[in-house]
Amino acid sequence: MSSGDVGATWALIAAAGSGERLVIDRPKAFVGLGGRPLLAESLDRLDRCELVDAIVVAAPPGWEEPSILLAEELAVSKVVACVTGGATRVQSVAAALFEVPVGALVVLVHDAARPLVSDAVVERLVGPLREGYDGAVPALPVADTLKRVEDGVVAETVPREGLVRAQTPQAFLAPSLRKAFAGQIAGATDCASLVEQSGGRVAVVEGDPRLLKITTQADLALVESWL
Ligand code: CTP
Ligand code: MG
Repeated sequence: MSSGDVGATWALIAAAGSGERLVIDRPKAFVGLGGRPLLAESLDRLDRCELVDAIVVAAPPGWEEPSILLAEELAVSKVVACVTGGATRVQSVAAALFEVPVGALVVLVHDAARPLVSDAVVERLVGPLREGYDGAVPALPVADTLKRVEDGVVAETVPREGLVRAQTPQAFLAPSLRKAFAGQIAGATDCASLVEQSGGRVAVVEGDPRLLKITTQADLALVESWL
């Protein structure tokens, strides 16, 4: 991987979820955060990130137009396409990946539900790609004791050693991600797992507590307090 090529690094924003657990009248990407739609935060931040050359948004079905209008209002310059998301996150990412040209070197995949993406985490992610890894994910340590539960009873206490919580953005060499998506994608909860399954090596870099994924109203209030 050589850096600095025009159009080399593409960021895909998975924003097509419905946000059922937020219980609102619109998709999660359009809930208000600091006076603008949630999607605006990651769109703005990735647009300003020097390592990102182009952006593709996977929008909720029926919300393609508002997504394009939002990009126009924000005057972001790197949004190349806005596609209709799929029924699952991985299908939404697949639709966005379809827009990435053959010449792209790196693909970052990010959740709109994690608005506070920083330049620092993107910089940490591209390091391993330059060293020959297929992918890199930001992760945080697990603090609580983990238990596997069956029918309300503890079946097992799972050793915490070596376990981390993976976040997004996740970064991949474009050919490695394409190879991963050429296989069976159903059921995957992140892109790294697909790359792992297809034989790719995925490095772990330091995550960021502020990359909290907004799931509930409480998460929304917490992230809002951090703005
Ligand atoms: N996502 C997506 N397409 C889907 C489902 C999810 O692009 N079909 C995206 C969401 O927009 C979000 C990220 O994947 O940015 C993580 O998903 P999640 O936090 O589960 O969001 P939702 O699926 O929208 O929320 P919920 O599960 O509560 O409905
Ligand atoms: Mg979901």
